[in-house]
Amino acid sequence: MLRRLHFEQPESFAFTPENRAWAEKQVTKYPEGRQASAVIPLLWRAQEQEGWLSKPAIEHVADMLGMDYIRALEVASFYFMFQLQPVGSVAHFQVCGTTPCMLCGSEALVEVLQQKVAANPHEVSADGKFSWEEVECLGACSNAPMAQIGKDYYEDLTPERLSEIIDTLGAGEVPVPGPQNGRYASEPASGLTSLTEYESGRPQHNASVARAMELGDSVKRIDGSEVPLRTPWLDAWARGKGGTSANTPQAPAKAAGPKAKKSPEAAPAEAAVAEKEPETLSAPRAGGADDLKRIGGVGPKLEKLLNEMGFWHFDQIAGWTEAEVAWVDARLKFKGRIARDNWIEQARSLAGGGKAGK
Ligand code: FES
Repeated sequence: MLRRLHFEQPESFAFTPENRAWAEKQVTKYPEGRQASAVIPLLWRAQEQEGWLSKPAIEHVADMLGMDYIRALEVASFYFMFQLQPVGSVAHFQVCGTTPCMLCGSEALVEVLQQKVAANPHEVSADGKFSWEEVECLGACSNAPMAQIGKDYYEDLTPERLSEIIDTLGAGEVPVPGPQNGRYASEPASGLTSLTEYESGRPQHNASVARAMELGDSVKRIDGSEVPLRTPWLDAWARGKGGTSANTPQAPAKAAGPKAKKSPEAAPAEAAVAEKEPETLSAPRAGGADDLKRIGGVGPKLEKLLNEMGFWHFDQIAGWTEAEVAWVDARLKFKGRIARDNWIEQARSLAGGGKAGK
């Protein structure tokens, strides 16, 4: 499919102050010289702000990250998640047209959109509310045919149901996402053939739908009023450098470029902190080990490594001092992840019976 910049472009683009602050914090996640790694979240934020990605927006992001414009354009023009032309103010429909969805009726869905929204893809409807396009497989083939509307999937669609969804959105309401034919998730359309005992007592919606409804952002755009991005890794770096800042966002090394040379001052992850070995255990306490994988950023391999080092419980991790973090960090393959993923705060919460969360 041809994806190119829209023929009409605005004069300029600038992030709102809130989005600019968010974007600058995003960039601090990456090491010196790797600022370009933030290109997708920044392009996404620019799109959320404006509704679509203009040439000035793509170039603005490229400038922030020290990238050649063509590199940022390559990313923006590759992914269907990025809209290179104006979209409807209420919702943009992305109908999957790949084989399973096509065999299950996606062509009839496209006809509905042609009749009710606009004759051509990427054309905004007469009332300005809607637009549509056909996209490649969105990975929900077992619930074909389907469409992504805003941020959520609407599955097991029929032309009639899609038509109702358009009307509902036009009236200012958001239909419940997920399967639209009464299916719970992606079980057989004729009903469960095994594990039938789980049918009763299950929550009203499957986990994806429940989460979508909890967030309520199916067709809502991020506007900068969300909970600010926290940057605990900056605290650790500032302490390592003898700084005093507490969670103070640092501006990215503007235009440092992928080939920028490292300077000792600009390599916070390498700042020296005296190491001290924490107290360890030779085995879990009576009652068994905690599931350390509940800490965001700790997978099975890291859990095994932590166990081998003598850490089995949330409260052990929660009690690490800065010097002890440095000791553990030095023994992990990727340094800095303890601070970056905020293990200590997560472990404190889990040790107290709460939830994790970076
Ligand atoms: Fe449509 Fe995979 S073919 S979601």
